[in-house]
Amino acid sequence: MDDATLRSLLEALAATPNNSSLRIAVIRGLHAAGDARAAEQVDGLVPSALSPADRAFVATVLLRAGVPTRALGFLDGETDPEVSIVRARVHHALGDQTAALAAYESAVKANPTFEDRDLRTAIAAKVTVHNGGGDGMRLRVVSNDDTDNIEVDRLLHPEQPAVTFADVGGLDEIKAQVEKKIILPFQKPALFAKFKKKPGGGILMYGPPGCGKTLLARATAGQCKAQFLNVAIEDVLDMYIGESERKLHALFDKARASTPSVMFFDELEALAGKRQHTRELTSSKLVSQFLSEMDGFVKNNSGVLILGATNVPWAIDPAFRRPGRFDRVLFVPPPDRPARAQILKILLTGRPTGAIDHEALASRTSGFSGADLENLVDTAADRAIAASLEKNTEIPIDQSHMTAALGEIKSTTIEWLTTARNYARYSNEGGQYDEVLDFLKKHGKS
Ligand SMILES: Nc1ncnc2c1ncn2[C@@H]1O[C@H](COP(=O)(O)OP(=O)(O)OP(=O)(O)O)[C@@H](O)[C@H]1O
Ligand SMILES: [Mg+2]
Repeated sequence: MDDATLRSLLEALAATPNNSSLRIAVIRGLHAAGDARAAEQVDGLVPSALSPADRAFVATVLLRAGVPTRALGFLDGETDPEVSIVRARVHHALGDQTAALAAYESAVKANPTFEDRDLRTAIAAKVTVHNGGGDGMRLRVVSNDDTDNIEVDRLLHPEQPAVTFADVGGLDEIKAQVEKKIILPFQKPALFAKFKKKPGGGILMYGPPGCGKTLLARATAGQCKAQFLNVAIEDVLDMYIGESERKLHALFDKARASTPSVMFFDELEALAGKRQHTRELTSSKLVSQFLSEMDGFVKNNSGVLILGATNVPWAIDPAFRRPGRFDRVLFVPPPDRPARAQILKILLTGRPTGAIDHEALASRTSGFSGADLENLVDTAADRAIAASLEKNTEIPIDQSHMTAALGEIKSTTIEWLTTARNYARYSNEGGQYDEVLDFLKKHGKS
C-alpha cells in the first residue's frame, strides 16, 4: 500500500471512526509498512465484532508492539486454530507456558499447518520440570567380565518396532513358505522331532532391490517367537586379521546358546562374496569361517535358522548353496498388480487421505518395487503438504497428488531383471534361477 492510499484511508477513518473493516485495513497497511502507529489504531475496535482471522491479526500487532496483555483481550474464548496459535505466542510472551502449550497443541491438532517447531521448543524449554534424578532413574552397571557379550550385542542391529506379515503387501507364496519352513518348525518342535526333521538350516532370499526382502525378514521376526539376531555385517567386517572371523564365531555362539533363534544377515554378499573374486586372502578366510559355522550348527545345534538376503545372488559363493547351508532359496519378485494395490493401501495407512483409486494406480505402476511405491506415496505426500501450507489448511493426499507423483517416479526393477535374465540364461547352475525365468516368462519378458 503506497503512502497516498494510506493517507486517504486514514482520512476516511477519521470521518467514520466506527467503520471496523476500514480500521482493520488501515492497521494492515501500517503494520505492513512497519509503522508503529498500527498498534495505536487498535483503540476503537470491539473484539466481538471482528472475525477470528482479524482478531488473530490484531493480537499479533499488539504482541509485536510489546503489549501482550492487550493482545489477550482479542483472543478470549475462541477455539479457532488461527486464534489459538496467536494465543500460544501471547501466553508465551506473558510467561504462562502451560497455557501457551495448551493453546499451541489445540491449534496444531485442529490445523497441522500451524505447526512451528521453534515456538514449540521455546515453550517446552520453559515448561520442563527437572526433578533432579532420584526416582525413576536407573543406573546401568557394566561389569568387566561381560565384555564379550557386550561386544556381540554391538554386532547386532538394535531391535526395531515389530512388523508383521500384515505390513507386507503381496508375496503370499513366500509368506506361506516362510510360515511352513521357519515359523511352524519353531512352533511345533515336538512334531518335527518325531519325524526326525530338525528345525533350522538356511534360507536365502534374493530379488530386485526394494521388493521387501528386508521387510519380510523383519516381519518373520515379528511372526515367530524365536530370538531374532539382526547381524550388522558392516560391524562384523574388521580390518584386523582374524577379527572378523572371531566376531562371526561369537555371533553364532550367541545364537546357539539361545535357541530357537534366527540369525538374519542382510546384504549377505558383503560377507559371503565369491572367494575367487576377493583379492585379499582375509576375506576368503571369512567365507570359509562362515561356511564352517553353518556346517557346525547342522551337526551340533538344531534350532538356529540362518536367514540371508541379497540383491546380487550371483556374487554369493556357490558353496553357500550346498545342502545344510542356504539350501532353500526364495525369489522375492517385484509385486504384481493386486500386491501393488495392497502395498499402496499399507503405505497410505495413517496418512490423511481423500479419494484414492488404488486399483487404477496399481495398473499404472507395472514394474514398480515396494520401495518405488513408497517413493510415489512420499512424493504425493510432499505435494499435499505443499498444498496444505499454501491453503493454510490440511489438504489430504488424493488421486490428483498420486497421479502427479507418477510423472516423477520411475520403476527401478527393470535393470535388475535384465541382469538376472542373463545369469538365468547363461549360468543357471542347478536351476538356481528357474524362478526368475518363470517370472520373466509369465510377464512376457524372457
Ligand atoms: N511387499 C511390500 N509391502 C509393503 N511395503 C513394501 C513391500 N516391499 C517393499 N516395501 C517398501 O519398500 C521399502 C524397502 O523394502 P526392503 O528394504 O524390504 O527392500 P529389499 O528387498 O530389502 O531391498 P534391497 O535389495 O535394496 O535391500 C520397505 O521399507 C517398504 O516400505
Ligand atoms: Mg534389503
